[in-house]
Amino acid sequence: MKKFTNNRMRRLRQTSVLREMFNSPFPGPEKFIWPVFVINGKNKKEPIDSMPGQFRFSPDMLKQEMERIIETGIRSILIFGVIDKDKKDPEASFSCSSDNPVYHSVSLLRESFMDLTIFTDICLCGYTDHSQCGIINKKGNIDNDVTISKLSEIALHHAKAGATGVAPSAMADSQVNAIRERLDGKGYIDTLIMSYSTKFASSFYGPFREVEDSEPEGSSRRKYQQSYADKNQAVRESLIDESEGADILMVKPGLAYLDIVAEIRRETRLPLAVYNVSGEYSMMHAASEKGFCDLYPMARESIQGMQRAGAEIIISYWANQYQSIINS
Ligand code: PBG
Repeated sequence: MKKFTNNRMRRLRQTSVLREMFNSPFPGPEKFIWPVFVINGKNKKEPIDSMPGQFRFSPDMLKQEMERIIETGIRSILIFGVIDKDKKDPEASFSCSSDNPVYHSVSLLRESFMDLTIFTDICLCGYTDHSQCGIINKKGNIDNDVTISKLSEIALHHAKAGATGVAPSAMADSQVNAIRERLDGKGYIDTLIMSYSTKFASSFYGPFREVEDSEPEGSSRRKYQQSYADKNQAVRESLIDESEGADILMVKPGLAYLDIVAEIRRETRLPLAVYNVSGEYSMMHAASEKGFCDLYPMARESIQGMQRAGAEIIISYWANQYQSIINS
């Protein structure tokens, strides 16, 4: 009796030339968006301990760094502002100040790199003294409708500075709608909205919150961020943002949510981004520092998983190390 069927999979894997014939190519640098942190000042490039290879840049130093990164083919960034604690207040006032590092960075980058795709994160958590992503009302609740008005104001502020697109991440209901109306009302009809449409309440944001100093004290963000145990709502969140006029949808985090990426990919024709978040980045660094796994091969494998799941845009801290990944 024959032991095998005629399927000998190893026939297809004999040579690298054959293997490459069947492989999907690793996403090119044009598919990546690099998330980056900016601070006020000059000549600053401060390493972030929990995220090796990432820094807080002053606008001038970010410009310098971009010159190098653009050489590697990366053409898109997502900017987060980091401000001093004494500038934070309950209304997130500093978010719309023209002294904001995001405003300075966007203006400088727009002036220096005509074709750079610049997204800005639109949220309040880096600017409120309580670190919630919205404005808290007298009853102690996060007031959705006051919050979306503030988010719209920030979006307009960034659009004026020259952002290609804004990326609302506050998980406020109708935030896309409110921002679109505000932008259009002021003539910014071409400013893109890349919505953090399905953003989970996740433990994987730890290193990011350390950078932003935005861990809410004594409470979580579960009242507005999506529960990871509810797949129907997770898909619905993105479909609602599509109906509100989002140009690009997003699932965040990436690795634990590839089923959601695949499901949303099936449900919409909009471009879909996945956010490979800080915790996913840092845990690979930690494992590699301990000698448990190899850094860049691990990064490469996980990114290709996100591509396979159906994301065509990869928002990832690995983007500034694209050459190391591609060579791994
Ligand atoms: C702001 C925001 C967060 C992240 C992106 N935008 C933090 C959060 O929602 O708690 C996380 C990004 C990362 O972990 O890399 N709301």
